[in-house]
Amino acid sequence: MRTLTGITPSGTLHVGNYFGAMRPAIEAQSRGECFYFIADYHSMTALFDPAERRRNTFGIALDWLACGLDPKRCVFWKQSDVPEVCELTWLLGSLTPMGLLERAHSYKDKVAKGISPNFGLFAYPVLMAADILLYDTNRVPVGQDQKQHLEMTRDIAIKFNQGYGETFVIPDAEIRNEVAVVPGLDGQKMSKSYGNTIEIFGDEKVLRKKVMSIVMDSRTPQEPKPDADKNLCIQLLRLFEPADVAADFENRLRAGGLGYGDLKKALFERYWNYFAAARARRAELAANPDHVESILKEGAARAREIASVVLERARKACGLA
Ligand code: TRP
Repeated sequence: MRTLTGITPSGTLHVGNYFGAMRPAIEAQSRGECFYFIADYHSMTALFDPAERRRNTFGIALDWLACGLDPKRCVFWKQSDVPEVCELTWLLGSLTPMGLLERAHSYKDKVAKGISPNFGLFAYPVLMAADILLYDTNRVPVGQDQKQHLEMTRDIAIKFNQGYGETFVIPDAEIRNEVAVVPGLDGQKMSKSYGNTIEIFGDEKVLRKKVMSIVMDSRTPQEPKPDADKNLCIQLLRLFEPADVAADFENRLRAGGLGYGDLKKALFERYWNYFAAARARRAELAANPDHVESILKEGAARAREIASVVLERARKACGLA
């Protein structure tokens, strides 16, 4: 069973990313073959600053390695270090109907937002299909927003297999369940676009201030709070604490006597400690860029062994070889 997923190198990692995508991916390393790559080719459709791309790519590698991605237990590489994926994109793209791509929500949303689309943005789902099919992937864990892209991958693979003979493994999407939605500082889903995030690797003062400015209601500390289970700080504490510790805070809040200021202070301390080890590992890795680079290169070499076999199979199927 081979699991594969692409990581978009954009922006700063936050608690929502961690519990939504990263922790499940890290845990999956103990359950079978895991292939994870940094999607730097995909970033080219919307980012045009080379220094920023390099910085983002390196930053994402640090984030994931610091949080527990283990290059001994998974294959971790940078997408563009296996350029075979571009050739496969062409083979797949040449039998992908325009209509299929024109129906892509993410493409239509971006155009509706006024982004002037380039060929790469239009072809984004084909590159994504190539990412997946190039490694005989069985399972692709993604967020709800990528569901349609996975359906397109399956459609493209089926079409290729029907036209040129059995070539690709048909992958299954594993849509992450929405139970894992992490609330942000304002109670809405934590998301960069809502500006309500708690970053994982940020400045202590800034983050403390963010947590201390969470808006609560005007009830006094002594007042009992029968709705304590719905309190935003309690919901966040549950992520960082064992169930009994979180329940203790909840009970104290419900009974009255625990003030919001103290609750927020406790939340900040727990959150800050939760990531202490990862923060130390990240600093260590950041000081050894050559080491990080060698991890990615070694991952690319392993990925490439499989990619070259699958690409050759596809080239033969369609008469190029
Ligand atoms: N498009 C995905 C996202 O925005 C990232 C991605 C690129 C990906 N290639 C992939 C995810 C292949 C899964 C499989 O999140």
